[in-house]
Amino acid sequence: MGRLSGKVAVITGASSGIGWATALLFAKEGSKTVIAARREEKLKELAVEMKKLGGEVVYKATDVSKEDDIKAMAQATIDAFGTADILVNNAGMGGDTVDLEHQDAKVWMDVYQTNVLSMVLATKYLVRPMIDKKNGSIVNIASVAGIRSGAGGNAYSASKAAMINFTMTAACDLGGHNVRVNCVCPGLFETEMTQKFFDAARSKGKIDLMGSRCELRRYGKNEECANAILFLASDEASFITGQYLAVDGGNTASLNMPGMKV
Ligand SMILES: NC(=O)c1ccc[n+]([C@@H]2O[C@H](COP(=O)([O-])OP(=O)(O)OC[C@H]3O[C@@H](n4cnc5c(N)ncnc54)[C@H](O)[C@@H]3O)[C@@H](O)[C@H]2O)c1
Repeated sequence: MGRLSGKVAVITGASSGIGWATALLFAKEGSKTVIAARREEKLKELAVEMKKLGGEVVYKATDVSKEDDIKAMAQATIDAFGTADILVNNAGMGGDTVDLEHQDAKVWMDVYQTNVLSMVLATKYLVRPMIDKKNGSIVNIASVAGIRSGAGGNAYSASKAAMINFTMTAACDLGGHNVRVNCVCPGLFETEMTQKFFDAARSKGKIDLMGSRCELRRYGKNEECANAILFLASDEASFITGQYLAVDGGNTASLNMPGMKV
């Protein structure tokens, strides 16, 4: 018996990074899984890997910035597996890092559409079977950028803070139905989103600096973030809702003031 045996899970943005690692772990833990993202070829590749682990999987090309695509993803889930128990809202984009006088309304709208509205709409279209069964778990992947400054541009950080707050309001709305809503806030991980920073550090011979300000003095492995997502998604977290869990090597726990460490 896996930790997700008998569950039907949907993971958005599964075509790379943390979503990919989570999909593999979910397959290993026995869930029936719908993997959704824009790149169908990558999803096909992932589905093959998941099947090798014994997972039942359906892939659905989905642009989460489009409501019709989200609706179709939800329908594909019901068509394939008849229900939904777990939703991982993982798809996300970074936006730009410009000063306040150069904030771009279009970038803000795109970031909010992809990071925030997609989460709200995926919840809207997938929550009904969870309410009917009086059991469900939604895990939103926000960021330490939603807790503190310094880990992304203004639009990205504000969108991640919005995800954390929606997690709380949705948890209160759905608590009476035994549908839990929680948030994982990753620190620094090497994925497509952060690749340019890792490439730059490697090219300067400074890869050891990446994550070195975390209390654990390193960046995370995608599997370590997937483990936290699995825990919150599973029945092991049955009394946890409305929370955000930083998976960040202790980064947000500390003011980490230069010169103050001995
Ligand atoms: N990597 C980090 O250090 C880090 C830190 C904090 C938070 N996060 C968050 O983790 C989540 C996963 O990101 P990642 O780091 O694995 O990066 P990633 O770029 O590898 O993964 C993001 C995924 O979302 C997909 N996506 C983006 N826009 C989409 C859209 N409109 N429709 C469908 N799919 C879309 C991408 O194609 C990609 O597969 C994101 O929400 C990100 O903000 C990552």
